Amino acid sequence: MHVSWASPAAAHNARVRMRTADGAERVVGAEERRYTDGLNGRTVFTYHATLDGLEPDSLVYYSVTADNDRRAGKPFASSFRTAPGANAAFRFTSYGDLATPNTAWALSSPQSRHAVAAVERFAPLFHLLNGDLCYANLNPQAQPSVWADFGNNVQTSAACRPWMPCTGNHEIEFGNGALGLDSYLTRYRLPDNGTAFPGCWYSFQVGGVLFVSLSADDVIYQESGAFVSGPEPLLPAASTGNAPIPPGSSLYLHGYSGGAQTRWLEQTLARAAAASDVDWIIVQMHQDAMSSSQHGNGCDKGIRDAWLPLFDRYGVDLVLCGHDHAYERSWPVRGCNHDAGRDAASGARVDTRQPRPVLTAPPSDGVFDTTHGTIHFILGGGGTSSPVHQYGVDAKTGRPQAKVITRRNAPLPSLNPGAFVKPGPDALEEAIWSARRDTDTGYGIAVFDVDPGLPGGKTSITISYHHAPGADRTPNPHYELFETIVLAKPRRDSRPGERG
Ligand SMILES: [Fe+2]
Ligand SMILES: [Fe+2]
Repeated sequence: MHVSWASPAAAHNARVRMRTADGAERVVGAEERRYTDGLNGRTVFTYHATLDGLEPDSLVYYSVTADNDRRAGKPFASSFRTAPGANAAFRFTSYGDLATPNTAWALSSPQSRHAVAAVERFAPLFHLLNGDLCYANLNPQAQPSVWADFGNNVQTSAACRPWMPCTGNHEIEFGNGALGLDSYLTRYRLPDNGTAFPGCWYSFQVGGVLFVSLSADDVIYQESGAFVSGPEPLLPAASTGNAPIPPGSSLYLHGYSGGAQTRWLEQTLARAAAASDVDWIIVQMHQDAMSSSQHGNGCDKGIRDAWLPLFDRYGVDLVLCGHDHAYERSWPVRGCNHDAGRDAASGARVDTRQPRPVLTAPPSDGVFDTTHGTIHFILGGGGTSSPVHQYGVDAKTGRPQAKVITRRNAPLPSLNPGAFVKPGPDALEEAIWSARRDTDTGYGIAVFDVDPGLPGGKTSITISYHHAPGADRTPNPHYELFETIVLAKPRRDSRPGERG
C-alpha cells in the first residue's frame, strides 16, 4: 500500500508509523517529490511511503507525521484493510469528474462531498476515479489550491482505501511539464508500466480481474487539455519566469507517447488473454468511445480507431469512463459499421466506426455474457457543477443519436475579437449501441461486486448504479438504486485455451 500526501511546506523526516492487528509497529520513511506550479509559482511538496509485507485481509492502523509536524502530538491517523486472498469476492466502485466542494472554483459543487461519502458508504476494496479529478486547469491562477481542496475532500475516503485514478483532460495544465501532468504525476505514485511514461498508464490485478488504466488523451482526436480562450493572454507569476500564454494556445496531447501506450496495451491484453488466472479484463479511461450526451463531448473516434479493435481481439469485458457528466451504459459491442455516420454540417456519409451491438435487448435470463462483446459505461457523475444528462435524439426517427468527433477540433477565432472557441463535434451517428441512459440526474456511483465462483464453474460481476435524484438542482447526499445488471461467464480454468 502506498500512503501519499501533500504538504504546503517541506516536511523534515516525513514518515508513516504503522501498526498491524497483531500489535507490531513499524516506521516507514517517505520519499519526497515536489513540483513548482508553472502559473502561480507555488511549490507543492508531496510524500510517498510504501507499506509492504502486509498480510491479506488484515487491518492496518497508521499515522502520518514529520519532525516539523505542527500536529506532532496528534498526527493525521487512519486505517485500511488489505485485500482478501486470491479467489475471494470483492467490491470496487467507480465514477469520474469529481471536482471539489469549494464553489469558489470553476465546476466545483457541494455534491462532490456527498460523492466521497457515497464511496465510504459502499466501503469498496478500492475506488476507480475516472479522470477530471478537480479541474484545477480551469482555475489557472490557483491550481495548487484547487488540488488541496480536492485532497482534503477525497481523503475522508482515500485515507481508508485506494483511489486509483486515470488522467482526464482537466489534469493537463499549462507550465507543468511537457504533458502538463506534473501535478498529477507528482501527487500519485502508481504502478510502473516499464515505459518512458511512468504513471501515465498502468495495470494491476485483484483476484481474477485485471484492471487496465489508460491515458486516452494519447489517442483522442478532440482538443484535450487547457486552452486560453482569450482575449487576454494568460499571465504566469513573474517568479516562474514563464512567458505570457497567448489567446488560442492549447495543450493537445494526441500521439504523445509515439505509440508506446498502445504497444504496452496490446502486450498487457495479450498476456491477460493467455493467462489462466485472469477471468475479467476491466479498462478505466476518461474519454468516451460511445456517449450520446446531447450537451457533452460525445464519442471520440480516436479511441475507436486505436483501442476498440484491441478490446475486441483480447476480449475486454468492461470499459469505465467519465468525461460526459452523465450515466450511460452500452450494449455489449464487437466490431463496427463503416458507413453509418453523417457529417454534421453537410450530411455527407462519413466513417465513424460505429460500434456494433451484439444484442439490443436484455438477454432472456437477464445475465450478460461479455465474452461476446464489451460493455462501456459513462460514469461522469462524480460531483461537478455541470451535469449533462440530456441525450441526443434524431428528430426524424426519434431514435437515440450521438455526436462523434472524427478529427481535431482546434480552437478557432470567435466572433468576440481576440477570443477563441472550440468547434463542436463534426459528425453524427445513430446510437444503436446505447442500452440505458439516466435522464433523471447526472450524478451517481457504480458499485461492482465480483464473485470469483468456484474452480470449473462460473464467475460473475453484479453492477449496481446508484444515483442522486435532483442533485442537479439541490445537492443530495442520498444515493438511490437506478439499475442493476449481472455479468456471468465460465471461469477461465473451465475453458482452457479460449478467450472471447
Ligand atoms: Fe469532466
Ligand atoms: Fe473530461
